[in-house]
Amino acid sequence: MNQNNHDAKNLLTHPLDLPCGARLKNRLIKSAMSDSLGDGAGNPTDAQMRLYERWAEGGAALSLIGEVQVIPGYPEKPGNLVLVPDADLPALQELAKRGSKNGAQIWPQLGHAGALAHGPISNPKGPSPLNVEGLQCEGMSLDEIHELPQSYARAATLAQEASFGGVLIHAGHGFLFSQFLSPLFNLRNDAYGGEVEGRFRIIREVIDAVRQAVGASYPVGIRINSTDKLEGGLTTVDALEVVRLLDKTSVDLIDISGGTYFPGAASSSDGTASSGPYFADFAKRAKALTDIPIVVTGGFETRDQVVRALRDGAADAISLGRAMILNPSLANTWLSDAGSDPEFPMFDAPSRGGVTAWYSMRLTALGKDEESRFDLSPANALEAYEARDAGRCETWRNRFS
Ligand SMILES: Cc1cc2nc3c(=O)[nH]c(=O)nc-3n(C[C@H](O)[C@H](O)[C@H](O)COP(=O)(O)O)c2cc1C
Repeated sequence: MNQNNHDAKNLLTHPLDLPCGARLKNRLIKSAMSDSLGDGAGNPTDAQMRLYERWAEGGAALSLIGEVQVIPGYPEKPGNLVLVPDADLPALQELAKRGSKNGAQIWPQLGHAGALAHGPISNPKGPSPLNVEGLQCEGMSLDEIHELPQSYARAATLAQEASFGGVLIHAGHGFLFSQFLSPLFNLRNDAYGGEVEGRFRIIREVIDAVRQAVGASYPVGIRINSTDKLEGGLTTVDALEVVRLLDKTSVDLIDISGGTYFPGAASSSDGTASSGPYFADFAKRAKALTDIPIVVTGGFETRDQVVRALRDGAADAISLGRAMILNPSLANTWLSDAGSDPEFPMFDAPSRGGVTAWYSMRLTALGKDEESRFDLSPANALEAYEARDAGRCETWRNRFS
């Protein structure tokens, strides 16, 4: 092994201690990705359990389950899991167990899609009413906002009961808490709007309620945007202020991402051009503001990029989305001597949403151990993805309405 490989391996294998006392066994995290593998009634499936088992066997220190809903009324998609009291606890326990093999951790990302909730199975509501092309929603009442901390606390308690290792609060990508932080979505003139501190208020209340519910030694992380990449949305300056505010809370980890799924906007998952890590510069600035561990996500394709970001002090751990779909054993690969990089597919002018759908459908193939036969184009993947969701809406309504 040459010296470079040796140093890279040392850096990546170094455990990360979280403020609550928990430890991540290395610096490679499987990013939160909505896998669309719930059963349509908010509960896990065999394919989903196998998927997380593969990432655990593949060496990831932590896998984050994307978009696990804290209440059923505002899901991102009907394939989401839902952490409510009558959820299938044995199935959740099995998911937690298989996703924790090999010393890995698995945490649900606690979400609420707010204004971006899936129309066919919800009545979307955000911080303020909106009526723009492709997005109509009502505004939340104060009572509805006041219920959020307890909903998140209840979901976190259920996660703990199911033996998940921790939780990640979703405040990125244009979903509910990202909407609260964004001056574009949040036009409130009460205590939950206005300057950054007011827009952040509900997030602080949720963190406090979750911490109170799960105790001091249970990991609680948060994902935030470094920028919404939207005119009038959350700016980098405000996002740094959010980091300063988070520094005064009890979170154990801040996961930096960016972009939104606002109609027509740039999401972090749908790009095709390889332009390197997207948010490493911001992460480095964030790290200067807090001792809370910083994780950065987005655009990492090679081990060199990951090692450079860690070595430069941009982050304490790196979270990988698409790279971990292309190779579910990527962590083991990068922790090994050779450390080869995944081969990213090139798509010729894919339709909007096609690339993300392609990766989503590949997740399904991974969960069935069928990736060697996976040959969908982005357009066909989008069609299959949308057809599957349409077919699940009835199941969702039967269970939750
Ligand atoms: C199929 C797919 C589903 C995703 N779902 C989520 C999600 O549920 N929650 C989230 O925070 N980010 C989600 N993302 C975004 C990723 O976590 C990540 O931020 C993005 O893909 C950029 O990282 P990458 O370049 O390593 O893929 C998703 C991405 C993909 C490809």
